[in-house]
Amino acid sequence: MSHTIEVPINYQKNYTIHIGNDIWDHIIEFSSDSYAQRLAFVVIDEQVHRLHFDKISRELGSYFDRVETYVVPEGEQSKNSRQWQRIVDFILKNGAERGTPLFAIGGGVTGDLAGFAASSALRGIPLIHLPTTLLAMVDSSIGGKTGINHDVGKNLIGAFYQPDAVFADTQFLGTLDRGEWINGLSEVLKYGAIRAPEIFDTAASLIEDPGFKPTEAWAELIAQSAEIKVRVVEKDTLEAGTRAFLNYGHTFGHALEKRSGYGNISHGQAVFIGMIAATYASVKLGADIESARFEPFKSLYPIQLQELVPERSALITAMKTDKKVQDGQIRLILLDDWGSPYIYPCEGTQLIEDAWSHAYEKFS
Ligand SMILES: NC(=O)c1ccc[n+]([C@@H]2O[C@H](COP(=O)([O-])OP(=O)(O)OC[C@H]3O[C@@H](n4cnc5c(N)ncnc54)[C@H](O)[C@@H]3O)[C@@H](O)[C@H]2O)c1
Repeated sequence: MSHTIEVPINYQKNYTIHIGNDIWDHIIEFSSDSYAQRLAFVVIDEQVHRLHFDKISRELGSYFDRVETYVVPEGEQSKNSRQWQRIVDFILKNGAERGTPLFAIGGGVTGDLAGFAASSALRGIPLIHLPTTLLAMVDSSIGGKTGINHDVGKNLIGAFYQPDAVFADTQFLGTLDRGEWINGLSEVLKYGAIRAPEIFDTAASLIEDPGFKPTEAWAELIAQSAEIKVRVVEKDTLEAGTRAFLNYGHTFGHALEKRSGYGNISHGQAVFIGMIAATYASVKLGADIESARFEPFKSLYPIQLQELVPERSALITAMKTDKKVQDGQIRLILLDDWGSPYIYPCEGTQLIEDAWSHAYEKFS
């Protein structure tokens, strides 16, 4: 079975997200309906290339006469201007026209990098995302943000650029590491917190049975998560306001990633702890919610906060210098209730200090 979500975009083309197991028939049908050119570019993550390229090449070769492939070295360090330049060179030197499609196949790193190259070569060539990690399926392939990192910070260069389509083929998840599943799970739980609390129960039962295996039940949860992101983004495509709800737990989480030295904690782990801190702060401000909702997942995130960041004050400093700070105020995303987020500009730092203390107790 496959799921589809229509994505309306103001002033730009609409597109569809397809989610399902082995959906190559849809990809090929879409390609033959959309692209007269029989040349296609593939920009693909190194691991996905190693594990899946035979099939990808066979499938795309059933429609395209020529498929030119660029392999992106694995990891966040590839999201840089050198890789971007190389991909643009690869596109231009291989005879790209304005209508030549580019398939970005990989996790968020490949999607962001290849998406930015597609947005800039020839002022934009058609982009199709094939996300291959859980995080990319529920988050990074949706919403049109593309880009690369700069020495000054992450994701500081980029463009809003919408794809022609997204195909999330859950078959790819069959080769994904457990750690990467858990990384994406944090974002799924975030959708539970900000929109659909029943996701907590569904996810808790899926990690028990079947575990991290791409079944139809996982495809449904991915589709539900993707739809929540679509609905939040469609109200705020260029991130003027409510799109910030997607940052639930992230202001705390980013500080943790920064202060522990990137690489010592995964983004997903940091966001999970950040959501527990944000839930505590929400309760302190009067919300009648229980952070016990996160309990069934806690053992997946075995972190010792005191070891990771001994100086708690460093976390507050990091939060104050976050790029999302406005007029010197830290803006937290908090909950009135499960499924009901709001933006809270903090006057002082007491609430944040208390929230960190709670997180340190939980992760000790
Ligand atoms: N554009 C957005 O809106 C947005 C949103 C969230 C995150 N992001 C970005 O996404 C990036 C993180 O994405 P990610 O977590 O997918 O990381 P990633 O792209 O680095 O992929 C994680 C790991 O999984 C491997 N991999 C990918 N697919 C696989 C598969 N099917 N089987 C086996 N291994 C596979 C990769 O080689 C890599 O080692 C960050 O750069 C972040 O900034 C962007």
